Amino acid sequence: MTTKSDRQVTRNLAAEGAASNRLLAWIDERFPLTELWEGHVSKYYAPKNFNFWYFFGSLAMLVLVIQIVSGIFLTMNYKPAGDLAFGSVEYIMRDVEWGWLIRYIHSTGASAFFVVVYLHMFRALLYGSYRTPRELIWIFGMLIYLVLMAEAFMGYLLPWGQMSYWGAQVIINLFGAIPFVGEELALWIRGDYNVSEVTLNRFFALHVIALPLVMVFLVIAHIMALHQVGSNNPDGIDIKQQKSEDGIPLDGIPFHPYYTVKDLVGVAVFLIVFSAVVFFIPDFFGMFLEAPKFEPANPLKTPDHIAPVWYFTPFYAILRAVPSMAGSAFPGVAAMGLAIIVLFLLPWLDRGRVRSIRYRGLGYKIALMLFALNFVVLGYLGLQQPTTAKTMLARVCTVYYFAYFVFLWAYTYFGWEKTKPVPERVTK
Ligand code: HEM
Repeated sequence: MTTKSDRQVTRNLAAEGAASNRLLAWIDERFPLTELWEGHVSKYYAPKNFNFWYFFGSLAMLVLVIQIVSGIFLTMNYKPAGDLAFGSVEYIMRDVEWGWLIRYIHSTGASAFFVVVYLHMFRALLYGSYRTPRELIWIFGMLIYLVLMAEAFMGYLLPWGQMSYWGAQVIINLFGAIPFVGEELALWIRGDYNVSEVTLNRFFALHVIALPLVMVFLVIAHIMALHQVGSNNPDGIDIKQQKSEDGIPLDGIPFHPYYTVKDLVGVAVFLIVFSAVVFFIPDFFGMFLEAPKFEPANPLKTPDHIAPVWYFTPFYAILRAVPSMAGSAFPGVAAMGLAIIVLFLLPWLDRGRVRSIRYRGLGYKIALMLFALNFVVLGYLGLQQPTTAKTMLARVCTVYYFAYFVFLWAYTYFGWEKTKPVPERVTK
């Protein structure tokens, strides 16, 4: 039986509901809020068979937000000047309230970004998500990856420690190896004949505003391209082929609430692991923050062993594996550049009849697993001091890296691949 106060509560709720509906109608007349929400969230039909590999897109967005927010707070106390930068980071670590936490969140976030993005890219290789009609999603993704690398590289210089300084010196000098324009190009990037405060100032400007802005625009383009064609899935099937009478894909479910809830599980697991690193092993055994980063930059003292952070080392290993020619490091630099360019071409190199690894030939499965392993081995080798044996291994891995793409093209172009029949509807 409803009491008088129950009826009052119901009336109040109805009045509030009417007020919020009027507010929404007012906004919708001036800005397509409901249209955007429905088109991209509550009525965006995603395949119902997403598995854990599909967590990494939303996690990449989360890490982007974490980096931007923690970066804003770091910028409040950081000083981009040659004689103040190192001290200002120490000040953040010791004197600013919670400064140590903000810095560790940002430095761990940089590595977390690459972990998440590498897994996100690998998912695309597993399920052929870069294939027609998703080439532009892949291209925008690759551009994000390039900007992310530039962003991480420039951020690394800012604490103005020994490794920041010498890492930047080595990497910028690589541009000098490019024939004809190299020297001028390196000078243009540095803004000086050596890495100096001028370099620090421009890297600061690019790191805190220019590149994050570009990245945010690219992420928007990435998602718009995704929503234009619809998501792929672990079966690699086009769910738009099978629609109900009202035009809704039979194998689709609304992104909200189904995937917002699912993604929250991924977020929870990610935050547990992320916090464990931030609070207990922020330097991650010298891989996220190396010892020479805690020494102020000294242009007169070169550290014994200069190596980039782990996320660059697969490409660094390729660079070192290729012998220089007539004293020029250009062949190595070119191989490193090519290793990234070839990824852009993937949608056109792969001519296979099916998308997902579930239905691809055994040759593809073996080659892709070896490719992933090879990438990890290259990453490991890039962190090590070179020895004859390690250089030989890096050469073998470099050859495999490129051979994979040639194999993929030949295997699919000449029809050598024996694929399995693809079901009409998604499986699980
Ligand atoms: C800041 C970095 C990035 C963000 C925030 C981001 C975000 C997303 C999101 C939210 C999705 C949809 C959910 C999902 O499929 O997991 C997605 C899909 C996709 N992303 Fe990214 N992404 C990023 C970087 C990259 C990179 C570097 C690549 C590859 C080079 C890439 C390639 C793809 C592809 C191919 C899809 C479609 C997947 C499918 O439908 O199966 N993304 N991305």
